[in-house]
Amino acid sequence: MTVGPEQVDSTRQWLRGLEVFAGPLPEFDPAAAPADPLRLFLSWLVEAVADGVRDPHAMTLSTVDAAGDPDARVLILKGVGASGWQFAGHAFSPKGVQLACHPRAALTFYWPEHGRQVRIRGTVTSGSGADNAADFLGRSATARAESLVARQSQYLMDTDERDQALEKSLALIAKEPSLVDSAWTLYTLAPAEVEFWQAAESRVHTRLRYERVRDGWERLRLWS
Ligand SMILES: Cc1cc2nc3c(=O)[nH]c(=O)nc-3n(C[C@H](O)[C@H](O)[C@H](O)COP(=O)(O)O)c2cc1C
Repeated sequence: MTVGPEQVDSTRQWLRGLEVFAGPLPEFDPAAAPADPLRLFLSWLVEAVADGVRDPHAMTLSTVDAAGDPDARVLILKGVGASGWQFAGHAFSPKGVQLACHPRAALTFYWPEHGRQVRIRGTVTSGSGADNAADFLGRSATARAESLVARQSQYLMDTDERDQALEKSLALIAKEPSLVDSAWTLYTLAPAEVEFWQAAESRVHTRLRYERVRDGWERLRLWS
């Protein structure tokens, strides 16, 4: 299908015809939800992995820049536990700069085969030197080399320049395999709110939000 401004009407028609929440979808009973959102998140993630959902540990990280303008990109979940949800990136990338000036963010997971969305909002902290180094050294040589080049999201004017910079970094890593990029950062988002959203074929979707209170979590149903 060719899509241009003159096709707006047919595009709208075409989009309307695409299926969403194809099912079969799992049941979600908020009354039976555990007291801690981490337990529910892990059970949904385990189910996504077990059912072969593609890239189940991919999530959208949303941040704001110094002007208050939003930004978002997909990252890999690096860890999750009592302290929060972890992701990693370069401190001098746009996301790193944005988090340094405004350390609050949102994470969004979507597992289409299950019609499930999880939204998490909270405060972000940077890992210790040891945590950052361990995450960095666990990455592939090419990923480490790219990080050491430290030009993520800058304009790429010359692919030869990039290839040469990567080659130089790879040679450095080969010579010194324990080399760590001090700007590589393992971030932890400590949740203030975690929302679980379950699609239903009836279109009466189910939402449950956990809100942090002093001694734990309050569970609240939301209109869909
Ligand atoms: C599935 C997927 C996983 C990704 N994982 C990461 C990641 O873990 N860390 C990272 O820095 N970028 C990752 N990226 C690339 C980011 O989406 C993004 O392009 C990059 O981090 C630059 O973002 P920024 O300019 O907002 O800093 C991933 C992209 C995709 C599609």
